[in-house]
Amino acid sequence: APGTTSVTRLGGRIGARIDGVRLSGDLDAGTVAEIREALLAHKVVFFRGQHHLDDAGQAAFASLLGPLTTAHPTVSTGDARVLRFEATKGMAANSWHTDVTFVDRVPAFSVLRGVTMPAYGGTTVWANTVTAYDALPAPLRALADELWAVHTNEYDYAREAEDPDARDSDALPRDEFRSTVFETEHPVVRVHPETGERSLVLGHFVKRFSGLNSAESVALFTLLQNRVTKLENTYRWTWAEGDVAIWDNRATQHYAVADFDTQRREVRRVTVSGDVPVSVDG
Ligand code: SIN
Repeated sequence: APGTTSVTRLGGRIGARIDGVRLSGDLDAGTVAEIREALLAHKVVFFRGQHHLDDAGQAAFASLLGPLTTAHPTVSTGDARVLRFEATKGMAANSWHTDVTFVDRVPAFSVLRGVTMPAYGGTTVWANTVTAYDALPAPLRALADELWAVHTNEYDYAREAEDPDARDSDALPRDEFRSTVFETEHPVVRVHPETGERSLVLGHFVKRFSGLNSAESVALFTLLQNRVTKLENTYRWTWAEGDVAIWDNRATQHYAVADFDTQRREVRRVTVSGDVPVSVDG
């Protein structure tokens, strides 16, 4: 019933819908605690019908989950807290990643609002990096526990493109994304600061593994990353305008599906500050 918070599980390993909540900066502490609990349990949660939210309202709500980061380390936007992804040329963040892993303090949560959605296509898929770790055979888990990876925003956006010669689109300010180069090392397995769960820290900002050459890194990255993105380990959301998704950026990767042709698609993202990832050795 309206006014009563309910959590409906959507996927076997990830995803839940929360009904009965009107997101705003004025939410009571009990409701915020329920949202946080569902988020930590299900890794990504979805809200329908949040048409009342504007950028300021989205940021005010997100700040109830923790202090906000600037929207992106290299992208300057009107409101420094809000990153806009606007597309009319069919482009989206269509490779698997965890947001902003190329800095030391990886954001804890991302809050994404569907502003303009295409009539077909333009879904987003999330993967659970905790269940991916848990499902590894013991020898691979032991290997991953020891590994560190170099992450950089000097990501080669053409690497997996269908048309590698396509120039920058209007969807993602790719040159701006790389205007200042960041590089940092993270453990491949991090211990979640709130749940204590172990998760794989991979995604498209990984350049190579520390101590391995690039050919070895590619082989090992493919092996581990394929475990994360196995379909059983994912949930795919079909957006309507006014939807809001929140994901635990310490326990997920995501992929925006670029199959909406030249229809307009606009989403806006706010990120909540996180910690430096801690390895299994502390
Ligand atoms: C993102 O990668 O944060 C954007 C996801 C989307 O456009 O659906």
